[in-house]
Amino acid sequence: MDSGKQITFPLMMCVGAAVIGSLQFGYNTGVINAPQSIIEDFINNTWNERYNEPIPSSSLTAIWSIAVSVFSVGGILGSFSVGLFVNNLGRRNSMLLANVLAFIAAALMGFSKMASSWEMLIIGRFVVGLYSGLSTGFVPMYIGEISPTSLRGALGTLHQLGIVIGILIAQVFGIDSVMGTRDLWPLLLGFTFIPAVIQCILLPLCPESPRYLLINKNEENKAKTVLKKLRGTTDVNADMQEMKEESRQMMRERKVTIPELFRSPLYRQPLIIAVTLQLSQQLSGINAVFYYSTLIFKKAGVAQPVYATIGTGVVNTAFTVVSLFVVERAGRRTLHMLGLLGMAVSAIVMTISLALLEVQGMSYVTIVAIFAFVAFFEIGPGPIPWFIVAELFSQGPRPSAIAVAGLSNWTANFIVGMGFQYVEVLCGPYVFIIFTVLLLVFFVFTYFKVPETKGRTFDEISSGFRQTAVSGAEKHSPEELNSLGADSQL
Ligand code: GLC
Repeated sequence: MDSGKQITFPLMMCVGAAVIGSLQFGYNTGVINAPQSIIEDFINNTWNERYNEPIPSSSLTAIWSIAVSVFSVGGILGSFSVGLFVNNLGRRNSMLLANVLAFIAAALMGFSKMASSWEMLIIGRFVVGLYSGLSTGFVPMYIGEISPTSLRGALGTLHQLGIVIGILIAQVFGIDSVMGTRDLWPLLLGFTFIPAVIQCILLPLCPESPRYLLINKNEENKAKTVLKKLRGTTDVNADMQEMKEESRQMMRERKVTIPELFRSPLYRQPLIIAVTLQLSQQLSGINAVFYYSTLIFKKAGVAQPVYATIGTGVVNTAFTVVSLFVVERAGRRTLHMLGLLGMAVSAIVMTISLALLEVQGMSYVTIVAIFAFVAFFEIGPGPIPWFIVAELFSQGPRPSAIAVAGLSNWTANFIVGMGFQYVEVLCGPYVFIIFTVLLLVFFVFTYFKVPETKGRTFDEISSGFRQTAVSGAEKHSPEELNSLGADSQL
């Protein structure tokens, strides 16, 4: 089939409306980076008003770290609750309803200064984290279900692209000539309101997922009408057949609950791989950069740290686009390993440059090292973990696996967001050595354990894992893991 013909206006409109959710996740990841010192001043002033003394620096670090990382606590709860919504309300209505959280969060954060309350800021960050956690489940699921098979990978990657564009917008808005000022920072945080309004206007014009209509609701005619609109053709028999096959498959392979997922030896191997890949994404230290780069650049003596932070966002976006074009050619395993190794080398260069700051020109080396760190992240460890979980599991265990993977990702995100500043105080310029060690461990794990999934059907992948579980053998050379598409043995 000619994929050019399958890109229709209704399809792109649905994908566009959905990835506003990814954009919100990215925006709120990046937004607290640039204005850190002015918001810290606000916290200090509020403390002063209340207790008539300046805030102790340990309390300021604690309040700021909580405001940053409570976002991931919301993310943990949100990502784990995805299943509660999508099967009862449908995919589209779940996305629509989640906007209530975005409105509440925008109001709490936007009015926190007026109310002299950093507690409102913290609660707002938590609520927008809930929204973001839900989005990391809703968006890839909805896009996957409405996309034609031949475009599923490319359209799925738009989730990560939405995230990185959101981060970039937040960084640009955070500069002091836009909204990163003493007076305007509440607007900067409350801006989340605008994408929420746009999503509420667009989503009602988008149809419910045809797979949900047919498989969960048994509404064949409705599913057919939606498919015709999305595909721009009246001949949707092939798609309908494929969905009915999926529906039959689901009846044979009953739903697997989360405790069953952990108990069954059948899923052990793919579960370990899925969770470790999520951990490799977060424990690479990427969000130490996206939450704290302005601080790092400032310490490195960079004259305009906020502009260097925007540079990280530009590099981040550019390399996500690169990944979009190469991921189906180079394969997941190779790109993931290349990304991890490149990040490890960049982290070593970054450490050396931070340790030798008195040497002239070292602040430039720091900038280049951080840019390279981010570029290598988006080559593999950024986008791949988000979509590989669906590839590693068949229909029955997939929803539970996605919940467990989401929980691992957000928990590790929380640990880095909360812990980074403390560890930085202890280790100084050597803080990135910790990430270097972890990156190398994840590289070795990927080399020995992660199979290539490119070009293999879900069935081939899971039957490979099944054979491993039955024979108890896990001994496959890295060369075999690379070419498993041919013999599908794991
Ligand atoms: C991934 C991560 C997210 C990170 C972003 C950076 O989407 O899940 O935590 O901030 O990449 O681009």
